[in-house]
Amino acid sequence: MPTNSQTAGRTTVTQRCIDPDCGARFEINERIYVCSRCGGLLDVVQESATDPEQLRGLWTRRLASFETRDRSGVWRYRELLPFADNAPIVSLAEGNTPIYDAPVSAAYCGLRALTLKHQGCNPTGSFKDTGMTVAITQALILGVQTVVCASTGNTAASLAAYAARAKLQCAILVPRGQISHAKLAQSLDYGAAVLELDGSFDDAMRVIRELAEDESIYLVNSINPFRIEGQKTVAAELLHQRGWRVPDHVVVPGGNLGNSTAFGKGFAELRDLGLIDRLPRLSVVQAEGASPFANLFKSFAGSAHVSPASPGQHLPSDWNAWPALTPIDDPHTLATAIKIGAPVSWQKALRAVLASGGTVLSVSEQEMADAKAIIGREGVGCEPASASTVAGIRRLVADGVIGPDEDVVAVLTGHILKDSDYTIKYHQQKLFSDNDAMTKRRKLAGTYPNPPSLVKATKAAILKEIKRHAKALDSA
Ligand code: F0G
Repeated sequence: MPTNSQTAGRTTVTQRCIDPDCGARFEINERIYVCSRCGGLLDVVQESATDPEQLRGLWTRRLASFETRDRSGVWRYRELLPFADNAPIVSLAEGNTPIYDAPVSAAYCGLRALTLKHQGCNPTGSFKDTGMTVAITQALILGVQTVVCASTGNTAASLAAYAARAKLQCAILVPRGQISHAKLAQSLDYGAAVLELDGSFDDAMRVIRELAEDESIYLVNSINPFRIEGQKTVAAELLHQRGWRVPDHVVVPGGNLGNSTAFGKGFAELRDLGLIDRLPRLSVVQAEGASPFANLFKSFAGSAHVSPASPGQHLPSDWNAWPALTPIDDPHTLATAIKIGAPVSWQKALRAVLASGGTVLSVSEQEMADAKAIIGREGVGCEPASASTVAGIRRLVADGVIGPDEDVVAVLTGHILKDSDYTIKYHQQKLFSDNDAMTKRRKLAGTYPNPPSLVKATKAAILKEIKRHAKALDSA
C-alpha cells in the first residue's frame, strides 16, 4: 500500500491552515482543500533536517540517472515533496524546462541581460504539469476515482493528460468560447469529459468547489495544496540550473495566483534548508482588465510599487488586518489564460510577494501583445499570458524599480502554439481587444508585424520578396 512520508516515518508532514490565528493542522491524507475550522487555505508543511551540500550533490547526480523519477524535473527534487519512496508516481517527464539568455527581450526592457525560464516546454505545453504530476499521484494514494478542475484551458489539458496516464476518470469545466482551440483540442484528445459552461472561469471555479464536496470527486485546481507542492519544485530547478546563484528578481504572470504562491513557497523552503541565503524579489504581472490582485496591492501598499529595503517589513502580524481582495465581476483580456476576476490563492501569493520585497502590477493589452512579438523574435515564443512578464519588466525598469544591471528572470508559463489564432491576428494587424462592459472593442497595433505575403512562383519574385521582408523586419 503506497503511503505518504508521514506514515513512512521519514519526516513529519502535515497540512496546516495559513491563518496564523488559526494554524489548525490536519493529517496529510485528509481529503480537504480548505481548513475545516476557519475556511482558510492550506499549506503542506514538512519538518526535516537535511544537509544542503548533500542535497545539491544528490540532485546533480540524478541528472545522469535513467530512473523515471530522476528524469522528471519535479521528482528529481523529491526530498522537498511530502511522499514516501514507494509513492505511485504518475509522470510524463515533466519539468526539465530550459533557461534561455534573451538579449532581444533584455534590450527591449532596458536591461543588460535577461533570462527566460520556459515552463511552456512541459509535456502538455504549460507549467501546470509540474503540479499535476504531484496532485494525480496524491489522487492515487487517496484511491479516488474521478478528478476534476475548472480551467481557462491549461490546467484542463494538463489534468486530462495525467488522468489518462493514471487511468482515472476526468472531467474539466471550462468557460464556453473563452479557451483557445489548442487547449480544447488537447483535452479532447486526452479523453477528458469536457464540460462547457455558459459563464466565466470564476463561475466554473465556484461550481467545481461545490462539486468537490461530493466524496467521489477530487479537485485538483491550485487550491489543492498538492498542486502547489509540485509547482514549487521549479524554484529548485531554476536555481540548480543557475549553479545556485540567486537572481535579484523573478517575475511571473498572475491569474488564479497558484504559480506565484508556488514560487514563493519554493524559494522560502530552499532558504530555510540552507541551499540559498536570500530570496529573489518575486513580482506578479496581471492583465489590466483582469487585475484584482494588482488593485489590492496598490491599495495595500499605498503606492504602485513597493520595494521595501528589508523584504518582509510590510507583513502585518495580524492576519485579519490585511485588506481583502475585491473580485472583478467582468474580467477581460485577450490573454484568456489569466482572464480571472476572483483568484483563489491571493492570500498565499500576497504573503509570498511581501516576504520577498517584490511588487504586483498590471500591463495593457498592447504592451502584452508587443512583448509577445519580441519574445518571438528571440526564437523562443510563448502564449499571450506569459508575455505579461516581459511587458511588466519593461515597465519596472522604466519606473526605476528594477535596475538595468540587475539579474532578472522572466517565467514563461505557456507554449507559443497554445494560442496561434492570437499570434496570426497580431501579425496581420487584425487583433481586437476583448469585449467588456466599460470599453469598446479596440484594434491593437501590430507594432512588430510579420504578415505572410503572397508571391509569384518565380525566382526573381521570391528574391525580391526576401529582400523586402528583411528591410521591413529591420525597420519595425
Ligand atoms: N500563464 C498561463 C499560460 C496560464 O495558463 C495561467 C493559468 C497563468 C499564467 C496564471 O497562473 O493561475 O497560477 O496565477 N491558467 C489556469 C488554467 C487558470 O486554468 O489553466 P496562476
